[in-house]
Amino acid sequence: MVLDINPSGAREPKYYQVKRHLLQLIDTLEPGSLVPTERVLTVELATSRTTVRQALSELVGEGRLVRRQGSGTYVAEPKIAWPLHMTSFTEQAAAAGYSASTQLLDAVRERATEDIAARLAIKPAAAVYCIERLRLVDGTPMAVETSYLSAARFPGLISHVRKASSLYQVLADVYDTAPVAAEETIETAAASPREAELLNTDTGSPMLVLGRHSFDAAGEPIEWVHSWYRGDRYVFVAKLSSGQ
Ligand code: GLP
Repeated sequence: MVLDINPSGAREPKYYQVKRHLLQLIDTLEPGSLVPTERVLTVELATSRTTVRQALSELVGEGRLVRRQGSGTYVAEPKIAWPLHMTSFTEQAAAAGYSASTQLLDAVRERATEDIAARLAIKPAAAVYCIERLRLVDGTPMAVETSYLSAARFPGLISHVRKASSLYQVLADVYDTAPVAAEETIETAAASPREAELLNTDTGSPMLVLGRHSFDAAGEPIEWVHSWYRGDRYVFVAKLSSGQ
């Protein structure tokens, strides 16, 4: 039987009609339910395989469906709500009921580019530490974070970070400082092959990139960091209020 997925005759691309139809179907199914195959949908919706594939791919990218190689396409689990606070990854995870862990991917001392130097209020080419870490919640890779901090301000930071899971804990315990304010930006990007491998997704899949520029109580910059999260798995939650 062929289903009429555009009874009102709306002027929309065919793939979008297929996508709307699939979204309605997803709403009636439990996470983990199998959705019909491309072949079945092609026949049922009287359309081409390319059209069906485009609708399915968008829904995978948006985190509504997941593809399992050689098995099929399933309704995705709900996304994880991740609060945007001034606190550390470790504290954010704990507040949301998860346990955080860290894998140090790379830690080097290098010369600051003009941009990084301006962010950290140091001279261009001054020494900075670049620390790249994989952040995990309950053992699942969640984000890749690349942080820059001034080497003159935080001498010996790399050896401390090698022994600790939380950077903010090291800043408090060893350097007696804490980020108390930050500017945070959110933008989209496509996963590079490396990020895709680390975060267990496909190259080119949508990522959410957080940029945080943090400052201590005296207004001195502490850290400039980019964090790459899987865009299909997380929703960032910022609480806004009109009070001061
Ligand atoms: C968050 C911030 C990062 C910060 C990190 C510190 O993820 N976005 O800018 O570096 O927290 O977390 P932790 O102390 O757990 O290493």
